[in-house]
Amino acid sequence: MLTPDLESLIARLPKAELHLHIEGSLEPEMLFALAARNGVTIPFASAAEVRAAYEFSNLQDFLDIYYQGMSVLITEQDFYDLTWAYLERASADTVRHVEIFFDPQGHTTRGVAFATALNGIERALKDGEARLGISYRLILCFLRHLSEEEAFATLELAKPHLHRIHGVGLDSSELGHPPAKFQRVFAKARELGLHVTAHAGEEGPPAYVTEALDLLKVERIDHGNRALEDAALTRRIAEAGLTLTVCPQSNLRLCVIPDMASSPVKRMLDLGLKVTVNSDDPAYFGGYMNDNFRSITKALGLSAAELVQLAENSFTGSFLPGEDIARHVAAVRAAAQ
Ligand code: ADE
Ligand code: ZN
Repeated sequence: MLTPDLESLIARLPKAELHLHIEGSLEPEMLFALAARNGVTIPFASAAEVRAAYEFSNLQDFLDIYYQGMSVLITEQDFYDLTWAYLERASADTVRHVEIFFDPQGHTTRGVAFATALNGIERALKDGEARLGISYRLILCFLRHLSEEEAFATLELAKPHLHRIHGVGLDSSELGHPPAKFQRVFAKARELGLHVTAHAGEEGPPAYVTEALDLLKVERIDHGNRALEDAALTRRIAEAGLTLTVCPQSNLRLCVIPDMASSPVKRMLDLGLKVTVNSDDPAYFGGYMNDNFRSITKALGLSAAELVQLAENSFTGSFLPGEDIARHVAAVRAAAQ
């Protein structure tokens, strides 16, 4: 049940968002506005029609529409506007730190320069830090349906900007594209001093999570739902204190789970896993951070203590330095009083 007390707790707890694709925060209204601004044709007549098309039966259904949506992002200002709109929403949900993904290959393959996307996103993140008090890290994701060679080429494009990029991730179509395909490019990224994370176990089997750990040497796991099918792997993740960035509304809308009561968040908490709550692609899945918190609190009957644990996990699982984490965790505890 979502009591007024829990509702109020969710609304005021400081949180970090660790799993957010900035291109997945493109709301239909902005899609239309940018299409008009840039003279891009989109196959929809209204924002309502766009929303009606957001019916997905799996990850690939969603990705097809997600990549199509990106076609309206052309100029640095477009990336700025996209990122700024997300940060305002995050701020309203008392999100104090974000570690956002971007998909440069979704842009460079359309002729939009790497630096155009990076400059716009980063400028908004800097403004968010100054005006909204939201700190940030930026994570470059490789599209796993593309080749290893293309991932290496993207890492080359990133090289002049490495002081502005904090980590690499791995996203897009999981099935048939195991982490092993990117072992060498992740080794190179680690050598360059970047943090590493990867989507694993969203649709893919537990073996993909094991590969992400053993071959990519990830510091956290994005989604990780299917890790729970393997008891030894689950124990390993718990013992290593690895963070899982779970995305409840995404899981529901992509049919990773049949209903919200099947969300793994409560089971993960009970197993002592460091689980966090995130919105993934909020414009496509119908909810930002606090919407996700409210959905699982209702469906799983989470307690105040469990909500506080989830908020703490979001900071302890971040790439922030220890002193910043300690400050945020103290703020979580103060807000819980
Ligand atoms: N790209 C954007 N959202 C994604 C998700 N949930 N899984 C894989 N790739 C993605
Ligand atoms: Zn994701």
